[in-house]
Amino acid sequence: MNSSAADPRLLGRTVRSIVYSKEQIADRVRELGSDITRAYPDGELLVLGLLKGSFIFLSDLVREIVRPLQVDFLVASSYGDATQSSGNVRLLYDPETELEGRHILLVEDIVDTGRTLSRLMDLLQARKPRSLEICALLHKHIAAELRYPTRFIGFDAPNEFLVGYGLDHAENFRHIPYIASLQ
Ligand code: IMP
Ligand code: MG
Repeated sequence: MNSSAADPRLLGRTVRSIVYSKEQIADRVRELGSDITRAYPDGELLVLGLLKGSFIFLSDLVREIVRPLQVDFLVASSYGDATQSSGNVRLLYDPETELEGRHILLVEDIVDTGRTLSRLMDLLQARKPRSLEICALLHKHIAAELRYPTRFIGFDAPNEFLVGYGLDHAENFRHIPYIASLQ
């Protein structure tokens, strides 16, 4: 995609490629919403967004799920620098909602190494939900450390550093409506 026109949101950086356009994302989120609607014919569904990265995806996704549900969030902190996750996960915000006996759908922006998710899934599983599944917008399929399958995947992402639609680099670019790799 041609990216010669500078995007004023990009702090002077240049887009190398738009990996998923706004329209591609919207189409795929709609499909995921109907997959999820069909996957939960009964029971209470709690959609748990992992902040901050999932905030835009989650807000679009829940509006495509046509059944009763509730929304809550998890804030996990992994020690380490901005682009690498270290594997030590600490919960900074723990949902007050009861998890026992409910379907839990954990929504994540991107699965990279899978370290963050593995720790979180262990923690959530211990609370005896009726079911526990992961929905990730992007999956790099390099997650050797993820001990849980990702039931719902938006896109099989290239192994590049991506920003936009919730994904950040050092807290910037989350508000970009498409997903891009930068130069
Ligand atoms: P993991 O524990 O290595 O799977 O790390 C997952 C987290 O790292 C995601 O929730 C993102 O916050 C961040 N991350 C991994 N890859 C990217 C990327 O390409 N762009 C932006 N953030 C990323
Ligand atoms: Mg991040």
